[in-house]
Amino acid sequence: MAALISAQHVFMFLWIIGSVAAGALEAEPGDDVTLQCNSHTGAAVTKLVWKRPELKDEYVFYFSDNLLNETNQDPLYHGRVELKDPEMKNGDASVVLKNVDYDDSGTYECEVTTSSISRRKREVPEPSIHLTNQSINLIVIKDPGEVKAMSGQNVTLQCNGPTDAALTKIKWERPDLKGHAVFFVRENRPYENFQDPRYHGRVELKDPEMKNGDVSVVLMSVSVNDTGTYQCWVTAPTMPTELLRSVHLIVSEASSPFPGWAVALLVVCLVVVVVGVGFALKRFVFLKSESGPL
Ligand SMILES: *[C@@H]1O[C@H](CO)[C@@H](O)[C@H](O)[C@H]1NC(C)=O
Ligand SMILES: *[C@@H]1O[C@H](CO)[C@@H](O)[C@H](O)[C@H]1NC(C)=O
Ligand SMILES: *[C@@H]1O[C@H](CO)[C@@H](O)[C@H](O)[C@H]1NC(C)=O
Ligand SMILES: *[C@@H]1O[C@H](CO)[C@@H](O)[C@H](O)[C@H]1NC(C)=O
Repeated sequence: MAALISAQHVFMFLWIIGSVAAGALEAEPGDDVTLQCNSHTGAAVTKLVWKRPELKDEYVFYFSDNLLNETNQDPLYHGRVELKDPEMKNGDASVVLKNVDYDDSGTYECEVTTSSISRRKREVPEPSIHLTNQSINLIVIKDPGEVKAMSGQNVTLQCNGPTDAALTKIKWERPDLKGHAVFFVRENRPYENFQDPRYHGRVELKDPEMKNGDVSVVLMSVSVNDTGTYQCWVTAPTMPTELLRSVHLIVSEASSPFPGWAVALLVVCLVVVVVGVGFALKRFVFLKSESGPL
């Protein structure tokens, strides 16, 4: 087998693959998460590198020639990353990141090198380099998911940015509203012209000073139309724009304090009382007029 893999017959592919940008992977502190990556070729993976853009010369995971190389692995990741499938069958280059914590939040990129044997002897294809601009966003938050509210309420959408960096941009977004933001702040100033009109004057920072990286916003007087997914993106001089949080807001119509049947029963009772009182009065007047002349 080894003899077959001669320089002529082997060509290399390089992939930079990640997950869909649309969705972020959410986890709670302490969870084990799977960072998905697949070369989709079935060819043997000869090298696999998982990176985070902010770790310049260090890696999350560096695997080559069937060995994990920890020399340049960032200490944060020592002993916490494993291949999901140790044999990487079908090009599965996913890894499991164990016991995540807040500082694991961020962008993960996977780079796969595969080698495959050329079927045709004569035509040796050029080494093919295929780059895809995708990455996985991991968000570690305490309670991921969902916020429920009644129409008319003020709702806080929580998001915590880095505590040690001055943020240059904050953007709250609803991916289904193409183009415009729900809320946009640059250099500490909100910009209405980047904001979808339906959110004008309805969104405020929970803490205008954004102490400790708190970039939560209050969405005032919500209606059922505000139901949707809200994403919190921040940018700092030291890091690329990052998706920190994704919240699904569900707004329902404020229901009346009594169920419908109770209201109906109340109306029936009232009618009975009114009619009863009417009869009684009539009878009283009738009796009075009868006894009157005596
Ligand atoms: C691990 O990586 C370093 C730097 O890239 C390299 O010098 C070293 O030889 C590698 N170790 C193994 C066992 O491949
Ligand atoms: C990847 O996408 C980001 C944002 O969507 C963009 O800023 C960047 O230039 C892209 N990179 C490449 C290599 O296309
Ligand atoms: C929502 O917030 C606004 C501004 O702070 C306030 O005037 C209003 O009373 C609040 N509404 C509710 C239902 O709390
Ligand atoms: C919600 O959207 C519908 C349709 O776009 C619109 O008719 C209605 O007035 C909106 N309701 C509120 C409270 O904004």
